[in-house]
Amino acid sequence: MSEILPIPIQSISMENEPISEVMAAPKGDSTRSVHDGRSPNPYHSISDPLVSTATYTFDNTQDLRQYMKQKMWGEGHNRSEYGRYGNPTIAAAEARLAALEGAEDALLFASGMQAISTVLLQLLSRGDHIIITDNIYRKTRQFCTFVLQRYGIECTVVPMNNFDMLEKAVRSNTRILFSESPTNPHIRLLDVERFHEAAAKYGLLSIVDSTFATPFNLRPIEWGIDLVIHSATKYLAGHNDLLAGVVAGRTELIAGLRDFQGVIGAISDAYIASLLIRGLKTLGMRINRQNQSAQRIAAFLASHPKIEQVWYPSLESHPDYMIGQKQYKGFGGVVSFTVRGDGRAAERVIDALQIPLLAVSLGGTESLVSQPAIISYFELSRSERLSLGIQDNLIRYSVGIEDMEDLIADLDQALSQI
Ligand SMILES: Cc1ncc(COP(=O)(O)O)c(C=O)c1O
Repeated sequence: MSEILPIPIQSISMENEPISEVMAAPKGDSTRSVHDGRSPNPYHSISDPLVSTATYTFDNTQDLRQYMKQKMWGEGHNRSEYGRYGNPTIAAAEARLAALEGAEDALLFASGMQAISTVLLQLLSRGDHIIITDNIYRKTRQFCTFVLQRYGIECTVVPMNNFDMLEKAVRSNTRILFSESPTNPHIRLLDVERFHEAAAKYGLLSIVDSTFATPFNLRPIEWGIDLVIHSATKYLAGHNDLLAGVVAGRTELIAGLRDFQGVIGAISDAYIASLLIRGLKTLGMRINRQNQSAQRIAAFLASHPKIEQVWYPSLESHPDYMIGQKQYKGFGGVVSFTVRGDGRAAERVIDALQIPLLAVSLGGTESLVSQPAIISYFELSRSERLSLGIQDNLIRYSVGIEDMEDLIADLDQALSQI
């Protein structure tokens, strides 16, 4: 194993230009999601072989010696000596994910949170400082404000897209700017261009959790962002049947993370990787449909008399409408709205819905619905919830791939119950 060294901050690119030229010619969404990252395999199978193994054999000592020498000198080799350091099925998933994000390399993890925590633990050291934006995923915020603090790493939270406050928060020991886009549940959009400019101005590493966007709606690396993270559990896998996480970026950053992953054992699994690859093949189709359906549902809700407010960035009433028009190709499948009435009214609507399933999570084939006040934010007091904009009558609807007309008719009948 090579020594685990923190990645030098001076190696961070400051150019606002695409980092890799993965695609030879422009290709459509579905072509890319079916073919990008495919590599030949010894069986000529159309699907990537599922290699389930803990360890790997060598023909003889000379073979092993040769492998170790190549590994030590960082020369390319396409095998591994132990399951914690590499797996061909996982490598195939990583190649496809990197290609989709326009990144040089990608690294798979067992969950989105494992990707986020491993990345931050590897890139930050005692005495460092990180700036995060305010409405990122609650567990990410918890990790940055409570867990990292135990290791002597400070964290400042700034409002998303408030670049004056962000710049004021930068200190001599700041290393990372971390944000997320779109956010949950109000589908706020990060101005990725300005976020990158702020990071470049102070020589900081920029990281964006792009779970809600997917590479089809936003490719943060094309806007100069250094690392992109996903909970692949959501749209990338797309079938509500697995947990996974991924980070994509430049070779030298991912190589350091890969070494660290081998040390702390935060790895994924070959079977999960093969399911993820299968999910990725339909990603373009799914996202196009989810974008379209969510946009139509948002428009339907916005004109419905039983609805108070709708959050979806295709609506001109959304605070980030202009950023959306400039930087995003679509806004994904999550639409949030408040019904006229109290939390009980929201409950009645949810219980009357016949197609979406009452469950947390998003991005899969099945539509899901939930009331954030009584699931993700249940342990907070009402005033804490309200300070985060989580009203009792707020409903989060994650649109699946069902027929849009059915989903709208179902919402209409459910809203007629209040
Ligand atoms: C934006 C975002 N990032 C990260 C995560 C964590 O992902 P996972 O559940 O795969 O650990 C989630 C989970 O909901 C999320 O919504």
